[in-house]
Amino acid sequence: MLLLQDITQLKEVDRLKSEFVATASHELRTPLTGMTMSMGLLLETAEEKLSESELELLQTAQDDMQRLRALVNDLLDLSKIESGKISLDVASVDVSLLIDNALSMFKVQVQDQGVELKSVIADGLPPVRADANKITWVLTNLIANALRYTERGGQIEVKVSPRADVLHICVRDDGAGIPLEYQSKIFDKFVQVETEKDVGGSGLGLAICKEIVKANQGSIWVESMPGQGSTFTFTLPIADRSSSATGVKLNV
Ligand SMILES: Nc1ncnc2c1ncn2[C@@H]1O[C@H](COP(=O)(O)OP(=O)(O)OP(=O)(O)O)[C@@H](O)[C@H]1O
Ligand SMILES: [Mg+2]
Repeated sequence: MLLLQDITQLKEVDRLKSEFVATASHELRTPLTGMTMSMGLLLETAEEKLSESELELLQTAQDDMQRLRALVNDLLDLSKIESGKISLDVASVDVSLLIDNALSMFKVQVQDQGVELKSVIADGLPPVRADANKITWVLTNLIANALRYTERGGQIEVKVSPRADVLHICVRDDGAGIPLEYQSKIFDKFVQVETEKDVGGSGLGLAICKEIVKANQGSIWVESMPGQGSTFTFTLPIADRSSSATGVKLNV
């Protein structure tokens, strides 16, 4: 039996929804930036005038505002990528440099949390064709997730291995792991594994990672055993050796 369904209307609703999110987050950004700045100025001068509990209230409001700004920025990024409006700056890139760069951003956090973060990169890897900044964003998000779900004493490893015409870039941790029923869902917007304690975040990071990797002609997936850790892997196409190593502007 063949069942056909007209999805034109569903598609239109989805498009309108994305457009609404894009407009709403764009409109929210300006007042939020203003409020954060005002709150910062207020906090600078409030110290001698306010009581400790009043200061604490202000500080909490400022922290909430920062979280809201991060959420609005993520939503805006995501809707831009989804609507194909993001421009990629694709060039021939050495992935090991991107990984070194990403790892160096976590030096302090890694020490504070008492985990080990290292990279395993074979010599002589071919360059890939990718947008260096956006792939660094993906790497830092995967590492930030790994750090969030790994206990003190844990280990996180970023590894690159070549396959036929792609590189596999893996971020592996030996932390909490992800229940099987969630593994296919965590790349969707706002999906977070339900836990007793609130670990923060908004569930947008992996959705953005997926869109960025897709725009760079790659794919991303997770393998995980609850209680034993998770491995997130994404692929990037190896650059054609005959192509020039300089940047090319591309619109996707
Ligand atoms: N390394 C990991 N170990 C265990 N669970 C993970 C890991 N990475 C992601 N998850 C699960 O997948 C969910 C979605 O991750 P995602 O990065 O999209 O959102 P988030 O980290 O919760 O919030 P955000 O990235 O928007 O700040 C997380 O909430 C968590 O439940
Ligand atoms: Mg995240």
